[in-house]
Amino acid sequence: MTRPDLAARLPADFVFGVATAAYQIEGSVDADGRAPSIWDAFSRIPGRVVNGDTGDVACDHYRRWRGDVDLIASLGVDAYRFSVAWPRVVPDGRGAVAEAGLAFYDRLVDALLEKGVRPYATLYHWDLPIAQFGRGGWCARDTAHAFADYADVVARRLGDRLAGVMTLNEPWCAAFLGHLYGVHAPGERSLPATLAAVHTLNLAHGLATAAVRAAAPGVPVGIVLNAKSIYPSSDTEADRAAAERYDAFHNGVFAEPIFAGRYPAAVVEALGPAMPEIRDGDLAAIAAPLDFLGINYYTPDRVHADPTLAFPAAAQWHPPKVPRTAMGWEIAPEGLTHLLADMARRWRLPPVYVTENGAAFDDAVVDGRVDDPDRLAYVEAHLHTLADAIDAGVDVRGYFAWSLMDNYEWAEGYAKRFGIVHVDYDTQVRTPKASALWFRDLANAVRARR
Ligand code: NOJ
Repeated sequence: MTRPDLAARLPADFVFGVATAAYQIEGSVDADGRAPSIWDAFSRIPGRVVNGDTGDVACDHYRRWRGDVDLIASLGVDAYRFSVAWPRVVPDGRGAVAEAGLAFYDRLVDALLEKGVRPYATLYHWDLPIAQFGRGGWCARDTAHAFADYADVVARRLGDRLAGVMTLNEPWCAAFLGHLYGVHAPGERSLPATLAAVHTLNLAHGLATAAVRAAAPGVPVGIVLNAKSIYPSSDTEADRAAAERYDAFHNGVFAEPIFAGRYPAAVVEALGPAMPEIRDGDLAAIAAPLDFLGINYYTPDRVHADPTLAFPAAAQWHPPKVPRTAMGWEIAPEGLTHLLADMARRWRLPPVYVTENGAAFDDAVVDGRVDDPDRLAYVEAHLHTLADAIDAGVDVRGYFAWSLMDNYEWAEGYAKRFGIVHVDYDTQVRTPKASALWFRDLANAVRARR
């Protein structure tokens, strides 16, 4: 069956964007007073990152930013989502501001606006200043206050020109991958540390939301969640119950405080005295109404009951013969509709943006061109399921491709390429892949209806 024309399915004012994050692209880790972050330290621990890769050089964007702005403009997108590096702006985590670091983002924002590209800034994309880690990092309440002070600095300087501010990117990853599974910085493996991090991150979001609004009234503020699209692996009662528990621990601990001002009952009951300390006023701050919600979606989570696991009593399961990306992630576009419709049913959501979606595949440059049919098909299929969500009544306003260009894929280093633009790390030459040209044409076709 041929699908209806994608351009005709998306609203004329739909926002097309591309996204990146500071540590993944900037390099220049010592420039202009930047101090190390937990990722500078973690990436240097032998065995933690494939090939021992670090973000020391990455895409050299800190020096090549002007060319990269031209590149973004050449893709014909409406918007660019980048992250501000906390260790560049407030290198010690709190206190003195590094003017030169802040000025970098100031120039970037102006250059984007000159090209007609709307800038969206994420305040925390996993690069916690190492000095703040020394003060307890995300396990210490102090970090929420330090983050709000840093948010105030950024909002005062950039807030008048930003199209949107995202407080945190994927706090689930910061808390769980960083403190429970140990595969991201800071590499801990402790349930109490994870839960403390969950609450500090939520509080940081709430306090930063208030700080940004006070410093730059009028700028839309939101958060980016990698809310999981969860399916029980079978219809048995045990698997369905496991999926519910999994949902409470993985989605509920962020969505429920933010949209309903409380932690999920299942989590509170399961943890009892192990729940992190919640002070008066915390939940009210966390539940401040948002201007938008960012959702990052890549793959669904299929879970089955596993009584041998203490936490969260469910394990991942995937059908053996599903299509997968180079990350090994199941390709299931319908999971995006499932997730968005489910969230809209459960919570009163603000307007939603898909702030990341995309795929890693092994690309090759042949005669100066990169043909990436798998990535193109992935993005096209997900935009169709996003249109399905809009048809079902979810207020989705835009889509940001992850990523503008190949970059430092955290524990996978440079081995995994998510860009719609290819980066040759020896020469730093950027080559738009076929998916980028297709994305540009789609954006233009939708824009033509405005
Ligand atoms: C989500 C993260 O925000 C981003 O940094 C990462 O590169 C992509 N997922 C792909 O794993």
